[in-house]
Amino acid sequence: MTDATIASSESTLNEPFPWERPQIDPPDVYAWLREERPVVRVVMTGGTPAWLVTRYDDVRAVLSDPRVSADSRNPGFPGRSAAGAGGDDLQSFLRMDPPDHTLYRRLLTKNFMVKRVEALRPRIQELVDRTIDAMLAGPKPADFVQAVALPVPSTVLSWILGVREEDRGFFNKTTEELFNTGEGTPEEQAAKSVAAANSLVEYVSGLAAERRKADDPGDDILGQLVRAAAEGTISERDVINTGFVLTVAGHDTTASMTALGTLTLLQHPEQLAELREKPELIPAAIEELLRYLTIVHLIILRVATEDIEIGGTVIPAGEGIIPLNLSANRDDAHFPDAAKFDIHRNARDHFAFGYGMHQCIGQPLARVELHVIFDTLLRRIPTLQLAEPVEQLQFKSQSPINGVFRLPVTW
Ligand code: HEM
Repeated sequence: MTDATIASSESTLNEPFPWERPQIDPPDVYAWLREERPVVRVVMTGGTPAWLVTRYDDVRAVLSDPRVSADSRNPGFPGRSAAGAGGDDLQSFLRMDPPDHTLYRRLLTKNFMVKRVEALRPRIQELVDRTIDAMLAGPKPADFVQAVALPVPSTVLSWILGVREEDRGFFNKTTEELFNTGEGTPEEQAAKSVAAANSLVEYVSGLAAERRKADDPGDDILGQLVRAAAEGTISERDVINTGFVLTVAGHDTTASMTALGTLTLLQHPEQLAELREKPELIPAAIEELLRYLTIVHLIILRVATEDIEIGGTVIPAGEGIIPLNLSANRDDAHFPDAAKFDIHRNARDHFAFGYGMHQCIGQPLARVELHVIFDTLLRRIPTLQLAEPVEQLQFKSQSPINGVFRLPVTW
């Protein structure tokens, strides 16, 4: 590490967290932190302190420690202002501890079991084929984000939640606006995102009210939640919060993985060619894409409920902890030559979906969607290429979920 890197890392440490992630790679300072200050106290943009944990083993230790809480109502929980829009106004189970958290996981898990989501595969394949047909029939270049990355996950979410066929247009547009607010100032983007969140909450409330009145609330997730509320297991408010958090958690994540995954494959033409030749390597390549990109990089927030020692440093009770999954996934001590994208490495134990009891409930669904999308793209559009230099792409550098606003492609 050069003197200049050390000096700039030390000065970054004095700036409020989070630090801008320029494009796909993490902020440079993470590598320095892993080596020199693996557990370090920083001040967040809102003024509250929090401890950054940057090494793979330490991140795993934090995420499996029962003395660490995910409940955002605890004093000292890392500030919302620092991680941007994370749906934290709604107390969802993402930000709960057991036993409340366990209740929701139990209620929802069956919807995301591998067998259940595999049963959706043919329908997802049809959807992806239709979506790609539409892109191929349209003008060139096309914006891959609008044409494929956004509509596929929002349509799949509308199926599993139970959005009415005739409302799908509204649902897709509003879920897209939650995070994909265009290229305005951060304030303008935040205002659009809040407006989209409000109309989505209003919509889910209306839908839940209708289901309550119906003789049979239905078998989709909304129907299951309404039934659980009728039985007194959860409150009416929880029905809406849970419907909303699933939408927030399941949409932009999969959309961004689709767009940035496609970009990364196009940037590595030899590996792309190999995948085209051997599509059986696609599942392993998806794990490597998940690790390498770690798009959900500022959502995992925790607070210590007791004094805990992590990597030789004591984090006092009541102070916030940010286990940086992006840094852990780029830790050479766990993933040799971690900065390199390599579809042949075994990346399965990455933390792109988190770790421990809050590990992403939707991961089997995300994996099926990504598999169908990449497999279909490789087969059907062998000449796919970027229509603009990477330097011109605008990354969502302010967002807790990384992505690109547009991805112009041609073929
Ligand atoms: C590639 C796509 C996705 C990525 C990278 C991703 C990432 C994550 C991460 C990192 C967490 C852990 C948060 C924490 O520990 O605090 C998480 C949790 C969660 N994800 Fe995902 N996710 C994806 C897709 C989905 C989908 C498709 C759904 C549902 C339709 C979903 C629903 C959830 C929910 C409900 C939680 C909270 C789980 C809990 O607290 O127990 N995610 N996700």
